[in-house]
Amino acid sequence: MKHLLSAADLSRPEIDAIWELAEEMSEVQHREIKKLPTLRGRTVVNMFFEDSTRTRSSFELAGKWLSADVINVSAKGSSTSKGESLRDTVATLDAMGVDALVVRHSASGAPAQTAQWVRASVINAGDGTHEHPTQALLDGFALGRHFRASDPDFDWADKKIAIVGDLTHSRVVRSNVLLQQTLGAQVTLVAPPTLLPSGVDTWPVEVCTDFDAVLGEVDAVMMLRVQRERMAGGFFPTPREYTVGYGLTRDRLARLRPGTAICHPGPMNRGLEISADAADAAQSLVLEQVAAGVAVRMSVLYHVLSGETAATGGSKERRSE
Ligand code: NCD
Repeated sequence: MKHLLSAADLSRPEIDAIWELAEEMSEVQHREIKKLPTLRGRTVVNMFFEDSTRTRSSFELAGKWLSADVINVSAKGSSTSKGESLRDTVATLDAMGVDALVVRHSASGAPAQTAQWVRASVINAGDGTHEHPTQALLDGFALGRHFRASDPDFDWADKKIAIVGDLTHSRVVRSNVLLQQTLGAQVTLVAPPTLLPSGVDTWPVEVCTDFDAVLGEVDAVMMLRVQRERMAGGFFPTPREYTVGYGLTRDRLARLRPGTAICHPGPMNRGLEISADAADAAQSLVLEQVAAGVAVRMSVLYHVLSGETAATGGSKERRSE
């Protein structure tokens, strides 16, 4: 795997290989000494041209725990703020000889375009309203663990997942739909008509505008943030009305089947799309998702930088040298 640009690029064996190694990496995450020598001598540049807390810090930790040299470049403080183009910025870093560029950008397609310009591997860490493949991988990793806890042989094809919220502006929904298409779960998208992505009728999903109708039927609800910073106009009358129709309120929490997983990629707007009761509920995977983020990104960095594919598998000797 040279780049990771879209969840659609991942075959089932590749997803399984990423998750298998992520399981090993999550053991490292809980050790007192968290360093593995695996990526010693390799250099990873985090290029975050949009705000981020968890994605950036988890890519940084993932690289550091694998002994890669990691540097962070953000739009503010880089020559981008002097008017340099993305092409010149990435070509500059590439010319220094870095091995991987982790790119977050407000323009959909920026990481794919970058991959054409550079010799380094490129990982998409969120591009505009397009995709966020490592988020979908970590969501699936956390959900898989949750489902396996009650049924070690569970099948994704038997699982129903509702993805709820501001779907128009969400790259997380696009990557999750693509990943789940490969895994086989049944996905229902729930949003007010104004927040359904255009062309959704061609997606391999069910669409529903009534959250209450799906509550008792799903194995997981994935709540997505209302992205007010990407909204130019009025997509719903008032925040209060949004919560009444589409928030995971205390009342809706009580109507979920026992054990229904609650996911949210963060950052959460508590009181808007998710109540504190739901965010902090026993079946909430919010912090498991964050933890999974580091392990999955360690695995992705390994797969991208080692040049190994699912077919050859990662050799344990190389990983632990
Ligand atoms: C998401 C993102 O940036 O796309 N968050 C994340 O990566 N953890 C979702 C969001 O911003 O709401």
